[in-house]
Amino acid sequence: HELELKLEMLEKGGYDHFMLKEIYEQPRSVKDCLRGRIYPEQGLVQLGGIKEYTEKLKNLDRIIIVACGTSWHAGLVGEYLIEEYARIPVEVEYASEFRYRNPIISEKDLVIAISQSGETADTMAAIEMAKEKGATIFGVCNVVGASIPRTSHAGVYTHAGPEIGVASTKAFTAQVTVLTLIALYMAQQRGKISTSAMTSLLTELDHIPEKIQEALSSDSYIKEIAAKFKDSRNCLFLGRGSGFPVALEGALKLKEISYIHAEGYPAAEMKHGPIALIDEEMPVVFIATRNSSYEKVISNIQEVKARKGKVIAIVTEGDTEVRQMADYCIEIPASDEAFLPLLATIPLQLLSYHIAVMRGCNVDQPRNLAKSVTVE
Ligand code: G6P
Repeated sequence: HELELKLEMLEKGGYDHFMLKEIYEQPRSVKDCLRGRIYPEQGLVQLGGIKEYTEKLKNLDRIIIVACGTSWHAGLVGEYLIEEYARIPVEVEYASEFRYRNPIISEKDLVIAISQSGETADTMAAIEMAKEKGATIFGVCNVVGASIPRTSHAGVYTHAGPEIGVASTKAFTAQVTVLTLIALYMAQQRGKISTSAMTSLLTELDHIPEKIQEALSSDSYIKEIAAKFKDSRNCLFLGRGSGFPVALEGALKLKEISYIHAEGYPAAEMKHGPIALIDEEMPVVFIATRNSSYEKVISNIQEVKARKGKVIAIVTEGDTEVRQMADYCIEIPASDEAFLPLLATIPLQLLSYHIAVMRGCNVDQPRNLAKSVTVE
């Protein structure tokens, strides 16, 4: 037993938990995910795993993304990116719902199945059904050689390395990275993006690992914030655009490991329900970075402050406007809006991690949850 404990300590590489180790691995895992796939000077994305399907990509009617849990949130980010850059309509489906409907699927559809483990039963069943109806299946998986990549026609591995913590962290950012690459690859193949635009996006993407590293440097400040909110009973996470799936993922992380009830919402939907919950006891986490929805998010923050809610805002480095309203501001480096989810997710992972540790929760193995769900 002692040997086992020592081995585990070694595996944790000096971190108290696998989750924290995996959060800190993200500069490296995202870099590994990009390696050999982007050529900024040439404005090129290369994805060997789907190369043979390039012709197919040019004649698609629609993309359906199927996934569960955190992978489904990555899918929502993918929807924004693919529609924005490749201009193909995208639907994101919970695999468990999709498989039990009678969905309309044809040979002109591409299904992208996202799964860290590559073994999730519902996701597997959803792609088998879509395959039968003639769709092309791409897998976006982390575990090499798992069932989903084996059943798919083609795919792109996330290369995040083994993820031990049940709450997904580095696998999520790697999934988002792959979906970003797929969106840009499709845009390139379908002639929807200029080489110069590609060059500037890829140059920026190439620097994301360093920016993730920078985002991690807020850790001790985030820990202070965690101490203030560790006894909360509820928490809201709000964002707009691709900040909305980031809010969903932030809420999921918190509820998974700290057992605090948390909800993610599109910020503009707040007035249709969650605003009723806001009082001085309610922490509200905003994704309030400087991008196209910045001004709108600011007015949502004002609405929360007017009701005495406590605001924790994820802001762009150097922000002054939100700082005047929010109770706490966590800075992330500036970058193109396309890459916002890769950066804004980092402080939310740390926030839920510290809150869970302070509440004495089993961070790596939260109650009732499994790393891989191979039954329905
Ligand atoms: C479980 C895990 C989650 C994961 C989900 C989907 O619920 O606890 O972290 O997001 O399954 O798993 P997959 O392996 O398909 O990504």
